[in-house]
Amino acid sequence: MRIVISIGGSVLVPGLSKDRIEEYAGVVDQIIAEGNSVGIVVGGGRIARDYIEIAREFGSNESELDQMGIAITRVNAQLLMLGIDHKFGQLPPQDYESAKQILHQEGVVVMGGVAPGQTTDAVGAALAEYTDADLLIYATSVDGVYDSDPKLNPKATRYDELSPGELVEIISSMEMIAGNPAPVDLLASKLIERSGIKTVVIDGSDPKNVINAVLHDKYNGTIINSDMK
Ligand code: UTP
Repeated sequence: MRIVISIGGSVLVPGLSKDRIEEYAGVVDQIIAEGNSVGIVVGGGRIARDYIEIAREFGSNESELDQMGIAITRVNAQLLMLGIDHKFGQLPPQDYESAKQILHQEGVVVMGGVAPGQTTDAVGAALAEYTDADLLIYATSVDGVYDSDPKLNPKATRYDELSPGELVEIISSMEMIAGNPAPVDLLASKLIERSGIKTVVIDGSDPKNVINAVLHDKYNGTIINSDMK
C-alpha cells in the first residue's frame, strides 16, 4: 500500500525531544517494514508559531511569515529523517514532483511545507493525490472531526464517518469561527473531495494510533470515505 501520513507539528514536536522524534521514526520504520511505501508530511508546531509571532512583531508580511513557517516544517522534516532507518540522499523535497520521484525510488519520503498561503494539511492531501496514495492519515492533536471544538465544548460530538462532501461542508462552516477548531483545513478537505482518497483523522499524540490505523485497520477517529457519498 502507498500511504501518506500528515504528522501535525503539535504531535511531532509538542516540545523538542529526541525521544518523541524517535518514537515517530519507529512508527515509519514499522510501516515500511510491512512492505508499504510511505510519504510523510511534517507540520511546524508551536516552534513555527513562536517564530511567526516574533517576525510579525517585526512587521513581516503574511507571505514572509508563511516562508518562515515553511522553513520550520522542513527543519522538523529533517529531524524526523535522522530518526528513520533509511539513508536519505537529500534534504526534504520542496515540490510534489521531486517528492513523488523520491517516494518511487526509495519507498519513503519526508517533506514539510511547499508554498505560502496554506498549511501542511493541504500538502498532505496534495501529496496523497499526486502519488495516488491508497490511504491518507492525519495524525493531529484531536481524535477526529467534531461538530464544535472538543477542547472548549464538553458536549462536542465526533463524526465517526463522513463523505468528502460532508467534510467540506463542516470544515467550511468551521472556517468562519474565530480560533477555527477544524483539525484539517478547507483546502485539504477540497483536495480530499477531489481525489476521493480514503482519509482518516486520528489522535497522533500516541504514535501507536498511527500503527493501529495503518497496519491493523483500527481507527479511533473520523473516516472520510467516498463510498459514503
Ligand atoms: P503547519 O502546517 O504546521 O500549520 O505549518 P498549522 O496548521 O498552523 O499548525 P498545526 O497543525 O496547528 O500544528 C506551519 C506554518 O507554515 C506555513 C504557514 O504559515 C503555517 O501556519 N506553511 C506551511 C505555508 O505557508 N505553506 C505550506 O505549504 C506549509
